[in-house]
Amino acid sequence: MGSKNPNEITRAKQNTSYSEPLTPSLVHTPVLLKEAVDLIAPRSGGVYVDGTLGAGGHAAEILKRSSPDGILIGMDQDAEAIERSKLSLAAYGDRVHIRRGNYRDLPQVLSGLRYEKVDGVLLDLGVSWFHLKTPERGFSFQLDGPLDMRMDMSRPQTAADLVNNLSRNELARILREFGEERKAGAIARAIEKARARRPITSTVQLADIVTSVFPPYPPRRTHPATLTFQALRIAVNDELGALSEGVSAVIPLLSPGGRIAVITFHSLEDRIVKRAFTAEARGCICPPKLPVCACGKKPVLKILTQPPIIAGPDEVDRNPAARSAKLRAAEKLPD
Ligand SMILES: C[S@@+](CC[C@H](N)C(=O)[O-])C[C@H]1O[C@@H](n2cnc3c(N)ncnc32)[C@H](O)[C@@H]1O
Repeated sequence: MGSKNPNEITRAKQNTSYSEPLTPSLVHTPVLLKEAVDLIAPRSGGVYVDGTLGAGGHAAEILKRSSPDGILIGMDQDAEAIERSKLSLAAYGDRVHIRRGNYRDLPQVLSGLRYEKVDGVLLDLGVSWFHLKTPERGFSFQLDGPLDMRMDMSRPQTAADLVNNLSRNELARILREFGEERKAGAIARAIEKARARRPITSTVQLADIVTSVFPPYPPRRTHPATLTFQALRIAVNDELGALSEGVSAVIPLLSPGGRIAVITFHSLEDRIVKRAFTAEARGCICPPKLPVCACGKKPVLKILTQPPIIAGPDEVDRNPAARSAKLRAAEKLPD
């Protein structure tokens, strides 16, 4: 790899490790915290779900605002997030139930806890800061580590399995569909060529292969491997499948007046949430030429955010991760 290419990664000093104690230094700064929790509108006596606990930042705010007796059910598919949020939410005692799992399985988790309905659900998608800062998890193209990218370590396939085993066409499809990467075909070809020489096992090895596909000038604003890493992460964790299934599963679980708020970080996620809310906010779907409604479909949701809420310049300055965030929320209508 020519070291004169300004797109090439400067390998960041690896100053974190998986065995680092669970201290606030690696704690995620919650995005759109006030806006999201305002929309959930927690109150005492309410039952709330945070389906993506992370380090528990949004969850703690929901608990504070539903004092003294609001309940929070928190889920995360990542074991480390569960440990972090157990620590950060310990002060709330038996007001908190933490379960490891995918939020798409929320109906089973709620019935296991004997809750039928809830008053609010928050999903704050994507990965946590500690995922990106821990080289061993393989999410970052700037920190060298094994090419893993699983949030749930029991999932069968890592990103290395995908890049080493999928056909070139299948790889290109993933990069195009989940990364909206315009050079998907060329990147898939470069991966195919590189893996014929030796297996691709590390994050920086993959990032360098992707970088080699891009012309060195003009230098890009974002790292050339950004969309490839995004696409592989989405594929490894079936993130879009979980989101479509999860949003559909959550809506029937909301009490009348209950709210769902979702923070997304790219257009593929945002589109799924927007479409799901719009479909549930629509009444009759009969063809316009029918004189009377035959479908009987009634709106189930009222949309609370049109357009979606985005972070202001102050928040983006403080927390660049908020740059691409979009918050959409909706309220369950009475039956
Ligand atoms: C952006 S972070 C959430 C940060 C959190 N709101 C906070 O304030 O600390 C996203 C978290 O969601 C988890 N996650 C992503 N997809 C998930 C899914 N389908 N089911 C459960 N957890 C998921 C990730 O493991 C990660 O910890």
